Amino acid sequence: MPGYFQFTFIRKQDRELPKSPDYFHDKTILVTGGASGIGRATASIFAREGANVIVADIDPKGAEVVAAAVRDSNANAQVVAVDVTDRSSVDSLIAAGIDTFGRIDFLLNSAGAAGRRSSFLDIDAELWRQTYALNVEGVFNTMQSVLPHMIENNHGVIVNIASMAHRRGGPGHSTHYASAKGAVITLTMGVAREFVDRGIRALSISPGPIDTAFQSVSSPELRQGMTDDVPMKRMGTPEEIGEMVLFMCSDACEFMTADTVYINGGGGFR
Ligand SMILES: NC(=O)c1ccc[n+]([C@@H]2O[C@H](COP(=O)([O-])OP(=O)(O)OC[C@H]3O[C@@H](n4cnc5c(N)ncnc54)[C@H](O)[C@@H]3O)[C@@H](O)[C@H]2O)c1
Repeated sequence: MPGYFQFTFIRKQDRELPKSPDYFHDKTILVTGGASGIGRATASIFAREGANVIVADIDPKGAEVVAAAVRDSNANAQVVAVDVTDRSSVDSLIAAGIDTFGRIDFLLNSAGAAGRRSSFLDIDAELWRQTYALNVEGVFNTMQSVLPHMIENNHGVIVNIASMAHRRGGPGHSTHYASAKGAVITLTMGVAREFVDRGIRALSISPGPIDTAFQSVSSPELRQGMTDDVPMKRMGTPEEIGEMVLFMCSDACEFMTADTVYINGGGGFR
């Protein structure tokens, strides 16, 4: 077995995630939904790598707490209050980020929510509109607002958080949300392919159930059902999504664009 041990030893020495050491130093990520859950975890992972973090959220108090943690790990942070459904608010966010850090290299769209659970026949116009405004229009707004800047730099990576719900359709409780996340995946693919020759990559992540505030509105029965459905028999952690965002943005991932990546403990669509 000496070959095996030699191999594992070399792999451990080789473990740096970005191909270039310090790849993220002084690069800037804008995180929507940065005050909580997946956005918050990603903010601290990028801070660990020395990136500047723009923590953008409709909850500025929560965003301040995250920014303080980023600064505690010796990285720079900026808090911007934003409602991603409001285009002028998003345009101001992008302008503020560029003004502070000079450029935005990465965009993570994590702001999103399933809203009220509802059977298909009980979805009303307001629930439909709110779900698409937050989950689809929010992603459209930030991408369209930041892209001219990224094109000018001939560089940028956009990561949008979709959901495994797009594979299941959300029958009985979340058809509105599942279909909105399907739109996020398609939107990401289209943008990726349209701007592939401008130095831009765009990817989405489809998480299974992740243990964040998002799940607090799920009934205990729904939470149990989701966990039972995962072969690993647990929910994921937000950090397990954040590390994928880091990999996607890194120079170890330069041939990857357009697709969605499933992170789901082996379940979520069967
Ligand atoms: N947690 C899960 O099980 C799960 C599974 C699949 C996909 N997702 C997706 O992951 C993303 C992150 O969810 P999370 O689990 O971290 O949830 P979370 O509730 O912990 O975080 C969502 C954040 O978005 C912010 N936000 C809400 N509306 C906003 C708006 N209009 N403008 C700006 N910010 C706004 C909230 O204030 C909050 O900080 C969402 O898009 C969600 O749909 C979550």
